[in-house]
Amino acid sequence: MKYNIPMKNILIINGSPKKNGNTAKLISWFREGIKGARIEAVNAADLKFKVAGCNSCRVCQKIKEYKCVIRDGAGPVLNKMTDADVIVMATPLYFYGPSAQLKVILDRMFCLFKWDNKTDVFSTPLKGKTLVLLASAYEDIGLDTLAEPFRLTADYAGMKFKKLLVRNAGESGEIGTLKGIKSKIVKFSRSLMPAS
Ligand SMILES: Cc1cc2nc3c(=O)[nH]c(=O)nc-3n(C[C@H](O)[C@H](O)[C@H](O)COP(=O)(O)O)c2cc1C
Repeated sequence: MKYNIPMKNILIINGSPKKNGNTAKLISWFREGIKGARIEAVNAADLKFKVAGCNSCRVCQKIKEYKCVIRDGAGPVLNKMTDADVIVMATPLYFYGPSAQLKVILDRMFCLFKWDNKTDVFSTPLKGKTLVLLASAYEDIGLDTLAEPFRLTADYAGMKFKKLLVRNAGESGEIGTLKGIKSKIVKFSRSLMPAS
């Protein structure tokens, strides 16, 4: 049987160092709303990085492939990004920004852009994909600030951007005590699926 709507590939990157924390809970609820899609999930905290960010060596700009030349744990994640229709980045708020574990991957995404310095035109395999940000914080401030670089990066790359931010999530694991959060997240992820 042929489907009219192609099955979506969803890549979820958990940027929290906590295996059973608020971010993990957010991700599991997000997954509940997804039907008929292939999901790949990665824990950024499990990856081994040779460099804690981008070296700015710019070698990626001189090769054909959209690849980082540093051979470490970021490489397979960057490859998965190019195959995904939807890239979900989930992070706790750490001092008004994403976790360092997730930021390493964000900076390495430099290799997914190829700039032509003469024309200032660039190409990227990210164009047309959807970037989803899932984030939680202890307080009710800071999450909008966190979301801005993700939104701007998505805009720049020609990606759609969606976010779900959970305020007052408390200590790791406490997110489950917030009323109505689970159903809100399940509804949110369901809304990302193609209409059937
Ligand atoms: C290093 C660190 C920095 C944090 N910074 C903030 C912050 O700036 N604002 C805030 O509201 N919560 C902050 N928090 C709390 C977490 O964002 C919050 O508890 C989050 O839901 C934890 O998610 P997790 O259980 O997946 O780690 C911080 C926690 C840690 C460990």
